[in-house]
Amino acid sequence: MDYLRWDETIFKNPEVFDASYLPDMLLHREMQLNQLTSSLKPAIAGSQPINSLCLCSPATGKTSAVRLIFKQLEEFGVVTCHINCQIINTKHQVWTKIFEIVANFQPPSGISFLKLYLATLKRLSKPLVVCLDDLDYLDVKTLNETIYSILKAYETVDVKIGLIGITTDFQVLSKLDALTGSIFHANEIYFPLYTKKETKNILKRRVEAGLYNGVLDDEAFNLIVDLTHNSKDLRLGLYLLKMSGIEAERKAKKKIDVEEVEKAYEGGKSLFLDKSLSALNRMEIEVLKAIYIKDNITSGELFEHFKKRISYRIFYDILNKLERIRLIDLKMEHSKGKTQRIFKKYDKDIMLDALERVSS
Ligand SMILES: Nc1ncnc2c1ncn2[C@@H]1O[C@H](COP(=O)(O)OP(=O)(O)OP(=O)(O)O)[C@@H](O)[C@H]1O
Ligand SMILES: [Mg+2]
Repeated sequence: MDYLRWDETIFKNPEVFDASYLPDMLLHREMQLNQLTSSLKPAIAGSQPINSLCLCSPATGKTSAVRLIFKQLEEFGVVTCHINCQIINTKHQVWTKIFEIVANFQPPSGISFLKLYLATLKRLSKPLVVCLDDLDYLDVKTLNETIYSILKAYETVDVKIGLIGITTDFQVLSKLDALTGSIFHANEIYFPLYTKKETKNILKRRVEAGLYNGVLDDEAFNLIVDLTHNSKDLRLGLYLLKMSGIEAERKAKKKIDVEEVEKAYEGGKSLFLDKSLSALNRMEIEVLKAIYIKDNITSGELFEHFKKRISYRIFYDILNKLERIRLIDLKMEHSKGKTQRIFKKYDKDIMLDALERVSS
C-alpha cells in the first residue's frame, strides 16, 4: 500500500510554512530594510557600522529583516553573528558563540572570559556585526556588561564591530547604566504592526509559494486572514495554513475549506496562548490572573491589590508588557487622570485554564 503518495499532496513546498523559513523578500518592510542597510553599509567598506535598535511588537519581521540583511552582508565578506538571547543569555555564552563563528571551531571548555575575549578579537580580521535578538531576556547586569564588551572591544584590539539590538521592550534603553548608555548610540528602527491588507498580502505570497494553485478556498483564506489579523500574530496565519493543509490531506481532500481552518484554529489557539504565557515571570502571571478573574477593572483598582508588593512603576511595566504580547487591551479613561481600563483579549475560561497549565 502506497501511504505517501507524493503526487496527491496539496503542498507545493511545505517548508514555506516552517518557523525557520526565511522569505527572499519581506513585504511592507522596505523602509526598515533600507534603514538597516544604510547603518550596516560602512562595514562593507571596512569601516565601523552604525548600531541599530529594532523595536516593536512580536511577529513584525524584526528577526527576519536582520537575517535577510546578514545573508547579504556575508556575501560582501562581513562577519555576522545572530544571537538569540532567550537561549544564549550570559556574556560568556555570547562571546563563545562569536568565537565559534570567527574561529570556526569551539573554544576550549573552561576557558576564562578574558582569554576567550582576547582570542576572539585577535582572530577578527574583518568587520563584525553582532545581533542580540530579544535582548530583554538578558538580566540587567548581563545586558550592560555584554553591550559594553562588544562596543568597547576596539579599545583592546583594532576591530570594527557593530551591534544590532532587537526587542519588544520600549523601556530597554532605560535599563542601561550611565557607562553603557553613553556608548550605545543606536539608530532606532520601528517595526509597526501589519494592517489587515498587509497581513493579507504577506499570507497570499506565502500561499503562492507553498500551496498548489487553487487548493485553498477563498472563504477559507479570508478566515485565516481575519483570525491572523485579530490575533496580530502572523505566526498564527502560517500555522493555520500548514495545519489546515495537513488536515485536508488527512481527509484525502484536494481542497482546504473553512472546516479545516476552524479545526486547525481549535487546536492552535491554546498552543499560541501557552507560548505567550511561557514568556511571563511569576508576578506577571499573578497580575494577568487577577485581570482575568475580575470583571471590568481599571489599572488603578487593580494596583490596589498589588501595591504592598510592587511599586507603581513595576506594575505599570507589567501591564504594558501584557498589552504588548496581546493578552490584554488598555484604554485610557480620559475623565480619570492616568487610569486605564483593562480589557481581556481572550475568553476568561480559556485563559484561566492556560494559566493553570503554565503554573503547574
Ligand atoms: N514582511 C514579511 N513578509 C513575509 N513574512 C513575514 C514578514 N514579517 C514577518 N514574516 C513572517 O512572520 C514570522 C515572524 O517574523 P519574525 O520572526 O521576523 O518576527 P519578529 O518581529 O522577530 O517577532 P518576535 O518579536 O516574536 O521575535 C516569520 O515566520 C516571518 O517569516
Ligand atoms: Mg524575533
